[in-house]
Amino acid sequence: MNQQLNILLIGQGGRESALAWKILGSPRIGTLYTAPGYYPGAIQATGLALDDFEAVAEFVERHAIDITLVGPTEYMMSGLVDYLLEQDMTVIGPPSGTAVLETSKEQAKDFMTENIIPTPRCMSVTQDTVAEGLAFMDSRRPPYVLKADGLSRGCGVWLIDNLADAKDMLADMLDGRFGEASETVLIEDFVEGRECSVFAALDGENYLMLTPAQDYKRLFNGNRGPNTAGMGAYSPVGWADPAFLEKVERRIVIPTVNALRERGELYRGFLYLGIKNDGGEPVLLEYNVRLGDPEAQVILPRMESDILDLLEAMAEGTLGDYKTVWSPQTCVGVVVAGAGYPSGPMQTEAVDGLEEAEATGCLVFPDDLTKDATGRIVTSGGRVVTLVGVGGNLATAAATAFEGAERIRLDNKHFRTDIGTPESD
Ligand code: GLY
Repeated sequence: MNQQLNILLIGQGGRESALAWKILGSPRIGTLYTAPGYYPGAIQATGLALDDFEAVAEFVERHAIDITLVGPTEYMMSGLVDYLLEQDMTVIGPPSGTAVLETSKEQAKDFMTENIIPTPRCMSVTQDTVAEGLAFMDSRRPPYVLKADGLSRGCGVWLIDNLADAKDMLADMLDGRFGEASETVLIEDFVEGRECSVFAALDGENYLMLTPAQDYKRLFNGNRGPNTAGMGAYSPVGWADPAFLEKVERRIVIPTVNALRERGELYRGFLYLGIKNDGGEPVLLEYNVRLGDPEAQVILPRMESDILDLLEAMAEGTLGDYKTVWSPQTCVGVVVAGAGYPSGPMQTEAVDGLEEAEATGCLVFPDDLTKDATGRIVTSGGRVVTLVGVGGNLATAAATAFEGAERIRLDNKHFRTDIGTPESD
């Protein structure tokens, strides 16, 4: 590939903000184009309709894009990645056939079971098999884990202590609480222990372990309240020591990569593994076929290597010879969310204070922000911005992140005040 690379980054969330920031920091970047997101320093491909695959391919051709980097899963499932691959274009992001590892919890579970990857026992239930599902629940111990089969913006997993409540929730989910996503529901055994997000980069043949992150999925302090797509994160993860990560690699990552290779689909992209520590033994809860959000916001600032070298190695199938270097610094990311998140409704609101937050020493990674007709920065709701503090330890990094979060001005904003603190353990 060329020394200077032109990149098209697809997506618009906090993860893509962090990717854009990291890519723009590379001495190898030629031009960074983004769609649909807007990031200072990049050229926003305004008017590029991402559901018009021919238009995207034409854009890639016209702007001499070397690599198209796809952040969110929706553009893998839409067929965009498949189409660009068919045109022999270089894409980081797996095809739709492999993205089902994230978009169908049921198919992911079958894949794990077939490949003898440690994962909690579960039963998959539909309206037709609800009686069997209820009987299965009677035979299990609380808390009961219910997972919508399909994508539901990080909100489709429920942990319920009481059997009667869990049965009501099962009925509610099968009745369409999450639309089509919960037409099938998995009832899974709960596993005690700490959970972290482990990442690998894949080039179609080889893999490279990246640094893990600790995600906070619950809405409220003390890990209470409903699940969200993530209210904060930190990296590195002290308890996920090299011996534990070696087990994750040997028992989970290697069998996964081998099985993907055997399926014959080209998977050049990031793989996210939701891992529980069950008494020192790793078990796999879920796959995602992308970097995490807000995990990307705390791992990318720790990447000392040039991200374009990594993307190039992923694109060219040379990851086997490539190593990333990680800073020993700690990053803590705090997500500021808008009113009503995660249950919605999403609404457009003005956001101020981004520059003041940056002045505290934070990295500021906006999520789906745009400018309105009057030039004000507005959010479409949900998660609004991740503030990342970088420091010598969790306490100093968290203090900076909280200071940044305080500076954000948004009606009815909320954020967790225990990310990275001992109270959240
Ligand atoms: N933070 C969880 C996710 O990205 O799915």
